[in-house]
Amino acid sequence: MTSATAVACANIAFVKYWGNLSPDLRLPFNSSLSMNLSAATTTTTVRFDPGLASDHVVIDGEARAGAPRDRVAHHLDLVRARAGIGTHAAVESSNSFPMGTGIASSASAFAALSLAATAAAGLSLPEPELSALARRGSGSAARSVPPGFVEWHAAGDHAASFAASFAPPEHWDLRDIVAVVSRDHKRTGSTDGHGAALASPFFAARIAGLQAEVPRVRQAILDRDMAVLGPAIEAEALALHAIALTGRPALLYWAPATVALLHQVHAWRDAGLPVWFTLDAGPNVHLICDGAAAGDVEGCLRQLDYVESWLHNHAGGAARLVPAPAV
Ligand code: PMV
Repeated sequence: MTSATAVACANIAFVKYWGNLSPDLRLPFNSSLSMNLSAATTTTTVRFDPGLASDHVVIDGEARAGAPRDRVAHHLDLVRARAGIGTHAAVESSNSFPMGTGIASSASAFAALSLAATAAAGLSLPEPELSALARRGSGSAARSVPPGFVEWHAAGDHAASFAASFAPPEHWDLRDIVAVVSRDHKRTGSTDGHGAALASPFFAARIAGLQAEVPRVRQAILDRDMAVLGPAIEAEALALHAIALTGRPALLYWAPATVALLHQVHAWRDAGLPVWFTLDAGPNVHLICDGAAAGDVEGCLRQLDYVESWLHNHAGGAARLVPAPAV
């Protein structure tokens, strides 16, 4: 096959990845846990073409040059080396959600790219190997390869640091309603954020605390226990931002509306609505609740003029090959 199309979901981390042991290999300091997001997907077609003198990259209908193109080309180099080919490729990718705003577009992007590129190069990688490959493009992309609720293992070498599912999507009707309060592209991407984090005086303390937190949060998901999961994910999101705020350079990812919504979530909970928040490295707020509360959460969001829109996710499936989109 010289052409293939893949779809992958973004994911939301409940225990997050922030800081690399090895920036080139994107080996994390800590294991992390996430849920795939059914409505936040990237669809990518890769076509290896002997007539191309360089890789061509189109994202959301726009031809890309410079750093975004080079990052994709670097990932294609890994696939070419694995497949023993030298052919350049045309890559066309589209997102169902705004890039670079705290919905992990790089996770779905590099999971879909890894699957489409390997298939187009004639490779059929076992899931752990595909996940480890996706990790090289963006760490969190490792978690967008397997389905449902996923753990990415911290390890000191490339082959051992992959993600695997610990519960299928149908295990729990958990929702992530991503409230979009800003569509601005963030000023500092997470690749630079991981580097800045290491200078935080709180970095080592966070990593040490996660040793116990990873099994506790995994168990809360297995038990479908919101009373444990909810407080744990809020504390973890704020801890990540505490590291970002105290790194070098110090990074502030929140917009004023982000903070307003965090307070609002506390007020809703005080009024009896079982909803909790988490955040990635961006201004938008992920509202986590059980399916039974999702309608009320949307009703509450509708009252807020600073929330532009929202994206309602169930637990999503694995990265998968699909027929080429019609042109
Ligand atoms: O995969 P990256 O380099 O975009 O890093 C993701 C970092 C967070 O989204 C903030 C946390 C996580 O684990 O997804």
